[in-house]
Amino acid sequence: MAGKLSPSVMCADLLNLSSEIEKLDRLGVEYLHIDFMDNKFVPNITFDTNMVKCMKKPMKNIRRDIHIMAFEPEQFFDKMDIGEGDMVSVHLEACNDAHAVLKDIKDRGADPCLAISPDTPVDSVLDYLDEVKAILLMTVYPGFAGQPMAPKSMERLSALKKLIVKSGKDIEIEVDGHVSWDHCSEMREKGADIFVAGSSSVYGKDYELEEAVRKFYGLVE
Ligand code: DX5
Ligand code: ZN
Repeated sequence: MAGKLSPSVMCADLLNLSSEIEKLDRLGVEYLHIDFMDNKFVPNITFDTNMVKCMKKPMKNIRRDIHIMAFEPEQFFDKMDIGEGDMVSVHLEACNDAHAVLKDIKDRGADPCLAISPDTPVDSVLDYLDEVKAILLMTVYPGFAGQPMAPKSMERLSALKKLIVKSGKDIEIEVDGHVSWDHCSEMREKGADIFVAGSSSVYGKDYELEEAVRKFYGLVE
């Protein structure tokens, strides 16, 4: 199966979001990566819950891939209208009870995913493999686009893939942060399934969006 693309909407043309989402939908892109930040878990704010909710409106086939970089993420689920078709990542480092939060996401009909930041040991996810659709491996320190890759990210990706294969469970790996033109093929080889593409690739200055999307799929097939 080919790699899936999840362009990071915080890197898109924020003054033309609806047409940006429609363009990606027409191009057959699987996900729209929506970074939600609380200015506490990470020192930044991107979209409010109403914007996250509204981004669903122009969507036909593309799905919301909501990455919640916030403490007690469950407090936002209602306002974001989390439901069928959504993929929702919450940070292990930000949950009081990640088991309960992942169950809440599942009970709403969405796909639960667990995100870990670069300093969190990969084997921290072992307790949750029965409860997730995917693991979101942060390959930058969360909070900002345009950062360099965090140290040991490729080794961590290989270790995570090995741990999931050993578990025998059908769990995808999403990589998020500096998924650049130079890195995405190697990430695919090391086991990444879903690629958050931001300023270092699809929303970079080198290509028009349509050409960038086509190029990306060619690199991660
Ligand atoms: C960082 C965000 C990423 C970021 C990716 O916290 O989660 O989605 O926008 O963009 P680049 O490719 O610039 O790292
Ligand atoms: Zn993200």
